[in-house]
Amino acid sequence: MPRVFFIGDIVGRPGRTVVREVLPGFRQAEKVDVVVANAENAAGGSGLTGRLARELRGWGVDAITLGDHVWDQKSFAAEIPGLDWVCRPANLHPDCPGRDHLVIEKDGFRLGVFTVLGRNFLPPRDCPFQVARAKLDRLAEECDAILMEVHAEATSEKVALGWFADGQAALVVGTHTHIPTADCTLLEKGTGYCTDAGMTGPYRSVIGREAEPIIERFIDGMPRRFEVAQKDVRLSGVLVDIETSTGQATDLRLVHLRENEWQQYRNDDRSGNNGS
Ligand SMILES: [Fe+2]
Ligand SMILES: [Fe+2]
Repeated sequence: MPRVFFIGDIVGRPGRTVVREVLPGFRQAEKVDVVVANAENAAGGSGLTGRLARELRGWGVDAITLGDHVWDQKSFAAEIPGLDWVCRPANLHPDCPGRDHLVIEKDGFRLGVFTVLGRNFLPPRDCPFQVARAKLDRLAEECDAILMEVHAEATSEKVALGWFADGQAALVVGTHTHIPTADCTLLEKGTGYCTDAGMTGPYRSVIGREAEPIIERFIDGMPRRFEVAQKDVRLSGVLVDIETSTGQATDLRLVHLRENEWQQYRNDDRSGNNGS
């Protein structure tokens, strides 16, 4: 029975470092077959680059998804077509570069992966429900199971998309808020659901950035530079077991590892340049 680990938004160097040091050991200890990670904040907190996508793959990330920050790094639009383990959100304009879904194959198990962006409190996009239905129908033909990520601000929109996909996706998992939710559940028709996987990054922060300038910005409304925070780095995600014959989840749980918990999985080999 394949086990899939979905990692929530990897934020900056702290997030990349915890993936590098913990994922190989965690993967082995938990017998994970496929790892999917949202890396929309991996590059300095905003966007992704080809170099960082290759690093994440080298540390055990089989597939990378993105969100509203997909184009924050200027070079990335030109790089993404060459990254066949990376997909951009599916409900962007069809002419946008990059794959709008992935099919990851592991020991004969084929997992379809795609992301839809929500539209509440986010810029206008193509309808995530229409796009999700088209993707779910298509991937059902060519995959054993489907992971559908909902990258959205509003919990209501995420829950609605979860019920919408019930019975078609093995896992519907939310991202974007960077705050994990305690609602991992099996829906009525066998879809595993979690409103938000939480961020993989520094929690002594406001969703990954140093708190103090953000507090000041809330108070006086003046622009400031928001640096990626450094402390209380955690690995957050959802672990799901999938029954291949049905494409449905049999069990799932939130994984939220604080530093004293992730040390046990830590790789002794700390060499390797992790950049900035
Ligand atoms: Fe994010
Ligand atoms: Fe986001």
